[in-house]
Formats: sequence, structure tokens, C-alpha cells
Amino acid sequence: MEKTNIAIVGLGTVGSGVARLLLDHGDRTARHAGRTLWLRKAVARDLAKAAARIDLPEGVLTDSIDEVVNDPEITVVAQLIGGLEPARSIMLRLLESGKDIVTANKALLAEHGPELFDRARQLGRSIAFEASVAGGIPIIANISQCLSANQLQSLEGILNGTSNFIVSQMDEFGSNYEEVVKTAQELGYAEADPTMDVDGTDAAQKLAILAHLAFGATVDWNDIPKVGIDGLDPVDLRYARELGYRIKLLAVANLTDDGLELSVSPTLLKIGTPLAEVRNAFNAIRAIGDAVGPVFFHGLGAGQMPTASAVVADLIDTAVGRTKLTFQTLEYFSSDNPPRAILRD
Ligand code: HSE
Repeated sequence: MEKTNIAIVGLGTVGSGVARLLLDHGDRTARHAGRTLWLRKAVARDLAKAAARIDLPEGVLTDSIDEVVNDPEITVVAQLIGGLEPARSIMLRLLESGKDIVTANKALLAEHGPELFDRARQLGRSIAFEASVAGGIPIIANISQCLSANQLQSLEGILNGTSNFIVSQMDEFGSNYEEVVKTAQELGYAEADPTMDVDGTDAAQKLAILAHLAFGATVDWNDIPKVGIDGLDPVDLRYARELGYRIKLLAVANLTDDGLELSVSPTLLKIGTPLAEVRNAFNAIRAIGDAVGPVFFHGLGAGQMPTASAVVADLIDTAVGRTKLTFQTLEYFSSDNPPRAILRD
């Protein structure tokens, strides 16, 4: 059977989950890709920490990105370093050395997407990013492929697992805010800096990516009006419940006659409605298309294996050359007539 040599760059929570899937379930990747996805290198900054996380075959673990860049046999790289730098420079270096990229880094795409995708296009390479929004829910593929016959009219999403975990635990068990944030970190849901989860930044970055895909809008995530859950008091949740509502951090994109309205904010949702009942680290997205009507996606939006599931699916697609659609979608990004984004405070 033919083989595609893979490298993982960044062996944190998600990276070690990806390594585990590749090493333990090669049969699945072989079945779907018709080829073996061979983990040839895994790059970690802290070798001892990485070795404690996962047992890798001899010769795979390294702390040198050069071993990936200079290895022409490695053609696909899961770039799983969080944050902006050095993630951006490393991604450019990998693209320039001829690698196709799979990433989960939404902050990087929301901030530097146009530059990275332009460079990838010039070099004839691909960047797949299913894991960047809503973890294990295949929302990127659904919006850019399965719903592509539609003009989407609205998207409403619970896009940050950490915030939803915190709000759910506080609502259901009256848990203490600081303690739940700590648990979310221990469970591998939170960003390295959990401020980005609780102040709405992470949800706004994901919304900016979805707005690109669904509406062709080029939006600076910094301009999306956002309020996080960090200002919520347990009493807010209790009063909401007494009135028949739950409070959820909701990211919304609404196509109106005036343009695209975008926002991220804690929102009252009637108990018993699908979005109100999304618990813990689950995410959900309700989309309305003009042909399909309403569709609802629900699944784990954060955590090691759900996110790894999306990364490995992208690795398989990339290995068999199925990521081309990403490029078509991205050309649509730079269409001359995208809807105007309305960003109101
Ligand atoms: N910190 C993110 C979240 C991880 O809680 O949703 C997945 O993007």
C-alpha cells in the first residue's frame, strides 16, 4: 500500500491526540485514504513533556523543525502550535518547503488567513482547517461543501467549549467560576490563555472564519462586537432559569438587507430549545439556508480526541488530494462583491 509521510508540529493536547489516532488506528486511515498515513516526525518544544504525554516510536520525536522542513519525504504536516508567533512563521516555512498543511489554529487563520492562503495558493499548496472551528463537528466541510447550493441567511453558534462548560457547571451545580476555569484547563478545553475563551475572543475568531465561508465576508475578528461570560454572576444564571431561560455565549451572523450583522454575547435562550440545551464542552451551530431551511449541528467542540478527529480527517483528505475545495472557497473569499459586514456595538 502506498504511504504518505506525515509530521506533527506541536505535541500538546491536540497533537498527542492526533499522534495517538495515527499510531493506534492506521487501519481506519488506510481504509478511508487507500494509503498508509505514516507518522514520520513529531516536533515538540519540550521533549520531556511530550514523551510523558505519548509514547512514540523511536526516531519520531524531535525538537527541531528543520528535520521536517528538510525532509522531502514528508508531504503533509499537522501544524498544531497555538497562538500567532512562531506559528505563522513556521507555517510559511513549511509551505515554502512544499508541505501541505492541516491546522486547528483559528487565531492564526482569523488574524493572518489572507496572507497564509495567498502564499499557499502561489505555491500550489493547501491548508485544511476543519479543526479550527467547533472541534469535532464537521462544520467547515458542511458549510463550504454540503450546503454550498444555499445562500445561508443566518448562523447561530455556541462556538467556545470552555465558556459553555463554565456556564453549564455554574448553572447546574452552582460551581465556583475560578474552580470551573481550572477544571476546563485540566480537561484540555481551554486555550493556553483562558482569557481568550471567557472574553469572547475565541468565539469571535471562529465566527470570522465561518463568516468568510458562509457569506464571503472578509471580517477582522477584532471588529466583531463581543461580550464574554467573564462578567456573568451565578445570580444572572439563576434569575434567567427562574424566568425559563438559560444564558449561553452565542455567536451570531445574520444576513440582513443592510449587510451581515455579527456579534458574540451571552444570550438568553428559552429552556427546551436546542441551543439552550447544549451542555458542557459541546458546541452547536444552527444554520438557515434558503434551499435547505434550518439545519443543526451538535458535538464536542473542544478537547483532545474530538479535535484530533477533525485534524486526522483533514490529513486523510490532504493525503488523497481532496482539499482542493478549500481553494475554490478561498477564491470566493476574494470575490468582488462580498456582503458588507455591519459591526455594531
Ligand atoms: N479553547 C477552545 C474552546 C478549544 O474551548 O472551544 C477549541 O477551539
